[in-house]
Amino acid sequence: MFHITVKSNYDEVSAEAFKTMKEVLEQEKPVLGLATGSSPVGLYQCMIKDHQENGTSYKDILTFNLDEYVGIPRDHEQSYWTFMHQELFDHIDIPEENVHVPVGCGEDPEADCVAYEAELVKHDIDIQVLGIGSDGHIAFNEPGTPFDSPTHLMDLEQQTINDNARFFDNDPSKVPTRAITMGLASIMRAKKILMIATGANKADAVKGMLEGPKTVECPASILQDHPDVVVVLDEAAASKLSK
Ligand code: F6R
Repeated sequence: MFHITVKSNYDEVSAEAFKTMKEVLEQEKPVLGLATGSSPVGLYQCMIKDHQENGTSYKDILTFNLDEYVGIPRDHEQSYWTFMHQELFDHIDIPEENVHVPVGCGEDPEADCVAYEAELVKHDIDIQVLGIGSDGHIAFNEPGTPFDSPTHLMDLEQQTINDNARFFDNDPSKVPTRAITMGLASIMRAKKILMIATGANKADAVKGMLEGPKTVECPASILQDHPDVVVVLDEAAASKLSK
């Protein structure tokens, strides 16, 4: 079930998304599923502001990130581990041991997938933050990924590599070609999904997610089967919707 809100700009989208996040933060010891990328940065800024101004504490909160590049060290400036610390964790009071980001730099990435999934199934994620790729991916589940996939390795599509080259000196050849990602089945276990999408380049993917057929060709379309998906869009991302 989708609950869709359309706002006129990114700041309003972020503030709206934060309302949903705040309800979860008020629960006892919530478990947060987090995403990287441009879409949730404004939400994370709202969370930091709320922590600083209202004292909302993250001491008892666990977080699980969706994904991580394979083949770059944890402390690489473009690793998702680094991104999450810069954009959120370094600015709130979350203990480091409560933070979970998939390990993409280990010697046995397959084993690291199994270990991450094993940790995930021990916890109920109360809210999973998601962005959407221009090809309809969620986390790094590219088109064609089976709906029943657990945490797994993924070869990135050229479109995703090109989209992410902006973080690698605009040079697609510098973008890692593989990632470790929560699977679609892992994501669907979350009690609530918070999907944030802005910009005209997301309009086709958003339409596919909300109005298209449920197909592995648009991985986000699996969310049609989830009971509680809050979708916050800007007008550009919503521009191809029929209603
Ligand atoms: C990030 C992730 C990706 C992004 C998606 C959109 O952890 O899993 O699926 O959410 O690629 O990226 P942005 O928000 O940068 O447009």
